[in-house]
Amino acid sequence: MRKALRGYIVSGNTLNPFIPQRVQNLVIRDYCESNSLDFLLSSTEFSFEGSDQTLKSLLKKDESKDGIVFYSIDQFIFSQKILSSIEEYLSVGKEVHFALEEKKLASKKDLKDLSGLIKIKALSNSPSQASSISDSLLRIKDFVTPLHKSSKRDYLERVTSFNKADCAIIAKEFGKDYWDGERQFGYGGYSYDGRWKEVAEKLIKNYALNNKSSVLDIGCGKGYLLFELKKILPDLTISGIDISDYAIKNAKEEVKEFLSVGDASKLPYKDKQFDLVISNTTFHNFTIDKLFMSLAELERVKKGSSWICVESYRNELEKMNLLYWQLTCDSFYSTEEWIWLFNKAGYSGDFEFIYFE
Ligand SMILES: C[S@@+](CC[C@H](N)C(=O)[O-])C[C@H]1O[C@@H](n2cnc3c(N)ncnc32)[C@H](O)[C@@H]1O
Repeated sequence: MRKALRGYIVSGNTLNPFIPQRVQNLVIRDYCESNSLDFLLSSTEFSFEGSDQTLKSLLKKDESKDGIVFYSIDQFIFSQKILSSIEEYLSVGKEVHFALEEKKLASKKDLKDLSGLIKIKALSNSPSQASSISDSLLRIKDFVTPLHKSSKRDYLERVTSFNKADCAIIAKEFGKDYWDGERQFGYGGYSYDGRWKEVAEKLIKNYALNNKSSVLDIGCGKGYLLFELKKILPDLTISGIDISDYAIKNAKEEVKEFLSVGDASKLPYKDKQFDLVISNTTFHNFTIDKLFMSLAELERVKKGSSWICVESYRNELEKMNLLYWQLTCDSFYSTEEWIWLFNKAGYSGDFEFIYFE
């Protein structure tokens, strides 16, 4: 049976530029249509200051509806009290939706995810530093996540069958052992198998790349992702940089000429040289000083978009699994911490987080 939601438009918020009510209406309508939700619009205006109270009273109303749909998460100040009221509302089978972020809260678990993002605001020193929640949500991508999830990993074996510290020392050299040695040192043999094709397709679509675009991959490894991009767009200008001499020497032959050995914290490129800068599972390998320097360098050389994918965790189990599994990681942060840190460093692009579930 289709769920019926009451829609609310909230104006007067101070975090986002003012969005005209008719636009908010359209966003809510489109969201409901594409999610097969019936919706009755009840346009309610109130000021940002009173949002706690108003949200609370809205949750109490509308017994006959299955839930509420709001224009955006950013229109509310969430306090612990408000989160408890929402939890109570969800516990009787109701739903809360946010159209702009395409976020549905249907259970306590969904609310937990949201609370994590709300913490980003609390962590920020000033409102100007605080990236809005919807902004952060819109910047989180999932290009690599399906591929990452398709691998099986024996987390415990890493710590019980091997001397993990010794393995990590060898792995951090990013030499032959890391790439093509035994599994306890890294990849356990990393040959081309076409696995990055889908990621390349997603990048091209999402960032509207064409044959005139230029792309830099920081921590490009053996250049497989750049190879897939170039296969689809033969005239794409590509560059790859990696600290690993071994990876560059053993890179995919077709793209080798575009790759060089170098450090992410000191990029040998001009300001605003690239339309898109990407980096897959590399930035968590940096200590905090290097991380900030590398983010600044990335910002400097890009003129358009960017995407960085790093390892992270959302709970204690994922934190433990990451600690067990990782060999080269030097930055261990929860997702909220990563987002806070990205914003603090002035990073303006997209991000993705992979988890060890
Ligand atoms: C997990 S691998 C990812 C490789 C590649 N992006 C891929 O997905 O196939 C991490 C990469 O980070 C590179 N790396 C580590 N420290 C670096 C640094 N300071 N500058 C550039 N690359 C670095 C390593 O050599 C390695 O290629």
